[in-house]
Amino acid sequence: MCPAPARKMHRRVQWPDAEAGTAVSATGARATGTMDGGGAAGTLAVRCTALTKHYPSKSGPVHAVNGLDLEIRTGECFGLLGPNGAGKTTTIEIFEGLLAPTAGDVEVLGRRWGRHDDDLRQRLGISLQETRFQEKLSVLEVLRLFRSFYRRGLEPADVMASVGLSEKSSAWVGRLSGGQRQRLAVACALVGDPELLFLDEPTTGLDPQSRRQIWEIVRAFARLGRTIVITTHYMDEAERLCDRVAIVDRGRVIALGSPKDLITSMGGAHVIEFSCAPGAALNHDDLAALPAVQGIAAGAGDTALTVSEPHVAIPALLALLQRRRLDLLRLTTRHVSLEDVFMHLTGRHLRDDDVSPA
Ligand SMILES: Nc1ncnc2c1ncn2[C@@H]1O[C@H](COP(=O)(O)OP(=O)(O)O)[C@@H](O)[C@H]1O
Ligand SMILES: [Mg+2]
Repeated sequence: MCPAPARKMHRRVQWPDAEAGTAVSATGARATGTMDGGGAAGTLAVRCTALTKHYPSKSGPVHAVNGLDLEIRTGECFGLLGPNGAGKTTTIEIFEGLLAPTAGDVEVLGRRWGRHDDDLRQRLGISLQETRFQEKLSVLEVLRLFRSFYRRGLEPADVMASVGLSEKSSAWVGRLSGGQRQRLAVACALVGDPELLFLDEPTTGLDPQSRRQIWEIVRAFARLGRTIVITTHYMDEAERLCDRVAIVDRGRVIALGSPKDLITSMGGAHVIEFSCAPGAALNHDDLAALPAVQGIAAGAGDTALTVSEPHVAIPALLALLQRRRLDLLRLTTRHVSLEDVFMHLTGRHLRDDDVSPA
């Protein structure tokens, strides 16, 4: 991703017009973030060390964030990926200055909450996990209201066009669909022309088309060289959007890197999943001896092989099944995903609605 442009530079930013499929432009003027407040590229947008957050509860404290160390670079799209309850929202809300940590150190754009709050608020765009708007304000009124919170920013009408809501300009917020409301929430985060955009689960619960629209808005913002911190429990979203991800589980980072590197760390790039007739047993050593097999995960009845070359491994597997006189019930192949990385590290699925193969 391109480094952020120099500080205090006035520039024209190009937004794709999601409705018309054309570009609209707006003039943005904004200081660009570095840890020292200067303009050098390759610096950090967010740094936290030994970050912890414990919530009190009747049954003892909930350790939502448990000693998190992260460095998020200026100009990257960084994903916090993890299952529900992993501590993503708590972490991002500490970065946003909405929650105070129990312990640890946080710097955002070279500034600290409690000392530089006004400066930071002017430079950040925030879309919360859940946004409730005043139902009887129009889309444009909401955007004008949010624009009024910033000393500098973009034209509300331009931002509205950039998220594909121009047609809904005078519609009450209460009449918008879930996807349109979410695009409005992201537009409110963009209207101050932020250096650093925080998006907490921006596509959860949205239909596939609305998800793609949000992805396009995020990509357009990333193309400006700005920094994005996004939380998600959708591995495909993280793979598509993020330059780097931290996989978070139980308040700790369990893996960090580009989606590609994390997937490569699994050994092979493909997964072959197969199941045989009930009662059939395959020897682990026989599977391990098959050509191109890098890893084996056997569930109840289902086996997953991580392989480097499926076209080599599959014929050898079929020949093995034939020698053992085993009936094949199912065989599928797919690319290794971040879900596999998470499962490999934790033995669990990322999403509650994914169940282990029976
Ligand atoms: N205000 C709160 N009081 C008590 N526990 C909380 C509070 N907010 C979050 N938690 C708990 O902290 C943990 C992390 O939550 P959260 O940061 O929302 O995770 P995520 O966004 O990854 O789903 C969960 O166990 C959650 O139930
Ligand atoms: Mg959350």
